[in-house]
Amino acid sequence: MKNPKTAPPAWQKEIYLNGFSGIKPTVNIDFHLLEETAKKHMTPEAFAYIFGGAGFESTMSANRQEFEKYKIIPRMLRNVSERDLSLELFGQTFPAPVLLSPVGVLEMVNKEADVAVGKAASECGLPYIFSNQSSRPMESVAAVMGDSPRWFQLYWSKSNDLVASFVQRAEKCGCSAIVVTLDTSMLGWRTRDLEIAYLPFLEGKGIAQYTSDPVFQKLMDEVDEDPPAKRVITAQTINGLIQMVRSYPGKGFFSKLISGRPIKAVQKFTSIYSNPALTWEDLKFLRQHTKLPVLLKGILHSEDARKAVDHGMDGIIVSNHGGRQVDGSISTLEALPSVVEAVGGRVPVLMDSGVRGGADIFKALALGAKAVCIGRPYVYGLAIAGQEGVKAVLQNFLTDFELTMGLAGCKNLSDIHRETLTQG
Ligand code: FNR
Repeated sequence: MKNPKTAPPAWQKEIYLNGFSGIKPTVNIDFHLLEETAKKHMTPEAFAYIFGGAGFESTMSANRQEFEKYKIIPRMLRNVSERDLSLELFGQTFPAPVLLSPVGVLEMVNKEADVAVGKAASECGLPYIFSNQSSRPMESVAAVMGDSPRWFQLYWSKSNDLVASFVQRAEKCGCSAIVVTLDTSMLGWRTRDLEIAYLPFLEGKGIAQYTSDPVFQKLMDEVDEDPPAKRVITAQTINGLIQMVRSYPGKGFFSKLISGRPIKAVQKFTSIYSNPALTWEDLKFLRQHTKLPVLLKGILHSEDARKAVDHGMDGIIVSNHGGRQVDGSISTLEALPSVVEAVGGRVPVLMDSGVRGGADIFKALALGAKAVCIGRPYVYGLAIAGQEGVKAVLQNFLTDFELTMGLAGCKNLSDIHRETLTQG
């Protein structure tokens, strides 16, 4: 992953040389095969949760279709023997314009979950955005990453004390930016999850940032205004309860069960995890509680992009949550140019949702993104081969991008601009 590069990418060479000795890649190179193989490594519940989108999944399709509308026009004889993929962002240098999107509940596909992803991201030097819905506390992930870059993604809870606590912890464990995800003030209508009536959070999965938080622990003792919903008790309920107790931190199944804390944690989480009442004015609170750059994730409208800058935000991530929230929503690549124009270079604009290879990264950059974030693809790598699987997926993306860039006649990121594309 060193820059600049003077030889064809080493990773590509390694794959072919291994093949010469009969060793095939453990993690598929082709995205569709990657998805298929990952499915075989997952429970039906995990696959529905990770693969699925909202409604008819038409936003997921739109995310892909928009990439197909643009074509790269390669240029020749430009001496691309040295290729520099590096990116300057918020005073830091990253090896490539690629970050790992925050993805929650990774324990559904791998025991080591976020820790495995953190290790792989740091092996590649790529920034990992810790999810607010992670399966491991941010401190545990940061501990395996050395000084490799990491950001923290925040879901703005109904408790501002909890918001402040999350941000403080993120600062303490070395996160260098805060990403506030705005598009999930409520869970979208996720057809596949609803069809099997499964939500991992009810089993206490994906709430490690909360159960490890001192403010949340205190909040758990407060009585909720809304009484818990009535449940039909079946054998499945008992199974869910067992999962819930297992997911709760600490040793001793029965002492955890008797304490009632695992159930309280899930109940408190479901009542406070998001705050649909949030408005632009609330962003001040965050500004007062951190000096770190703050980015807004989920921006799709140029007017919202302008507002973000006017409210002192430091960056924008154009995202539709991988098509998991609003079915029929604008694709992110379609939204990107107008957001970039509205921002007018005042803050960096990143994008995610539907990025599946090097050409996609190239096209997003050509349309004005500073960097892209990758979601599901690394989760599929994690499902197939844990830390090594994530690393392989990241290496595939970086190598594919490096080759696309060089073969298109670009030596560095500033060579990638609107004129390198045509809309066919
Ligand atoms: C997500 N995403 C997400 N976003 C976020 O801000 N916090 C989160 O906890 C999660 N959790 C999550 C779980 C799963 C299973 C998926 C697939 C996605 C959205 C994520 O950050 C990103 O926006 C999308 O994954 C990008 O789209 P692709 O690349 O997956 O198509």
